[in-house]
Order: sequence, then C-alpha cells, then structure tokens
Amino acid sequence: MTSIQSTGYSIHFNEDAYQQLNHYLSNDQISTVFILVDENTHRHCHSAFKNKISYKKEIVTIEIKAGETHKNIMTCVALWRKLTELGADRKSILINLGGGMVTDLGGFVASTFKRGIKFINIPTTLLSMVDASVGSKTGVDLDSLKNLIGMFSNPEMVLIDNNYLQTLSDREMCSGVAEIIKYGLTFDGKLLNEIKQDNWKNINKLNDIIYKSITIKNNIVLQDPKEENLRKVLNYGHTVGHAIESYFLEHDTLENLTHGEAIAIGMVIEAYLSHKLYGFPLTELTTLKEYIHKTFGKTTIATEHYTAILDLMKHDKKNINGSIRYILLKDVSDFIINATAPIELVVEGLNYYNTL
Ligand code: GLY
Repeated sequence: MTSIQSTGYSIHFNEDAYQQLNHYLSNDQISTVFILVDENTHRHCHSAFKNKISYKKEIVTIEIKAGETHKNIMTCVALWRKLTELGADRKSILINLGGGMVTDLGGFVASTFKRGIKFINIPTTLLSMVDASVGSKTGVDLDSLKNLIGMFSNPEMVLIDNNYLQTLSDREMCSGVAEIIKYGLTFDGKLLNEIKQDNWKNINKLNDIIYKSITIKNNIVLQDPKEENLRKVLNYGHTVGHAIESYFLEHDTLENLTHGEAIAIGMVIEAYLSHKLYGFPLTELTTLKEYIHKTFGKTTIATEHYTAILDLMKHDKKNINGSIRYILLKDVSDFIINATAPIELVVEGLNYYNTL
C-alpha cells in the first residue's frame, strides 16, 4: 500500500512501515528511544513490535494504565516525571504503541516535554488507525470532558500494521467502525454501503476500508489542519456523542460506553436532526438506525438523564458564543457545518434513538 503524505509527515503501511521506521531509527542523532504502552498493548503488541525493530541500542518501555479514565493530566505528570528520571533529553523520541488514548496522551506528553520531543504513532486499534493517530491532534480529557486540553502537533510518522487488530475484542473493533460510518455518511456513500454489508468483518476488505478511511480523513486535514472550518465535519455525531460518552463516564452506575458506541448513538440522533431540519432522506435515517442497533447493540438512555446530557453539550469545542453547533446532513456526502438545532428536537432525537 502506498504511503500517504500528511501535514509534514507520512503514514506508512504494514511491512513497508517497519522498513521506514528502522531507517528512521538508524539516524544517530536520536539519544534514547522510549516506547509508551498501556497494560493491554504491553501484553498483546509489545513483543510483536520489538521483533520488527532492528534498532541496536536499548529501547526503554514505559507503561501506563489502560482506559479513558486515565487519559488525564495526572497521567501526563507521572509520565513527564518518568521521562525526567530516565534521563530523556530533547533528542529522545517517544513511540506511542496503543489505541487513541495512548497516541493522544503520548503525543501531548512528547510535545510538551522540554518544549517538545519527537514522537511516532503506532495505532493498535481500528479506531486509532482510522482516526485518532492521524491528523496531529494530541491531548487529554479534563474530568469527564473529552479532549479539552491539548494541542496540534505532528508526529514524525504514523505506522499502520493491521496485524495488531487480531488482538482486539469485537467491541473494540466496532468502536472503530463507528468512525468509518462517519466517513461514509459525510464523504463516501460507497464506503457507507461497504460497511452496511459488514465488509469490515473480512480482513482483506478491511485493509482497503482502513486505507480509504485514512485517505478521506487526511484529505480533510490537509485542507484544514487546525479545524478552522472544514475539518469540523470529522466531528459528525460527536456533539451529542461526546456528551453521552462523558455522561456515562461520570456515572459509576452506568456501564461505560466505548467512544464508538457513544458516537454511533450521536450519529443516529444527528441524522434525526438532519432529517427534520434539512430533509436527510428517511430511508437513510432508518437504515442507519437499524445498522447501528445491530452492530453496537441497544443502549437505553433514560429520560431522567436527558437534561444532564444536553447540559454537557454546552462544552463542545465547536460551539460559538455559547450556541451549540452540529454537523448536519442534507444527504449522504452533503453536509452543513456550524448548524444549529432547537433543543426540543435533540430531545426528540434521543427518543427516536430509544425506540427500536
Ligand atoms: N477526530 C476528529 C479529528 O481528528 O478532527
């Protein structure tokens, strides 16, 4: 697969990716190579990764706890301390081997340590391959508010190795499928149909789907790297979805949703708003809702939680002067940026999602 050129770095695929990485690491300007893993990627991906690396000097592994609840500034402080204790200097490099939590947080820690050391992303989840690791967003959550603290910072390269996906649970795979549905709805009806036919369950077809998804995302990022306008489209489903994800994270009595599960719900609700406000076709809305129920299962959002969820939407990063903004659709691949919607319609959307 041909490498994809992004904003000052490249995304490399499979065997070629390791050749590129080995070549990069052979540069004797690098003082120490650190690998950041979480408990899961330490167990399932670390040795496979090390076997692919021909770097002769010591590689220092740093482990953090897995899970969104650890994607916060305390974990960053612990990591900055660890790097200091281990003698990291400005010629050190951090390789982030993990899902979106590891690549987002690791990228942020690297970009701020000693005013910035270099980092490389090696995503190990579908979600991180098709979204988080590409596009130079780094950061952490503030309490339950998703990715509130962070900065744009380019990795040196991104390496996509589909073999890591074999270690994922079905639930984690589905989490990535949600972001691919987002690319299909906003830019590529053919990709959307491929997903609806469950082609992502076939590993050969999945390789192609990952490549198409990264290409779509990268084309947007190249046009609007700092999300001044067009890149907001990549947030379709996230105005409502992030609020639902945060709400479930905040409440111990509710089982946490994966990012993809929350975004899938958000996409149904925002498709409902799109239908009501901009005539998004009813058939598309209905098939989307059915596919999402089939793939992600049914989460009931109790009516007593609605007000708090709507309140959390006030923190969305796309909001302008306190007004909540959405990406809405007139049709598949025909979107509106910075759209508004009456709050009663969002409540109707929540009800619509709740009714099978
Ligand atoms: N995940 C959306 C973006 O990178 O812009």
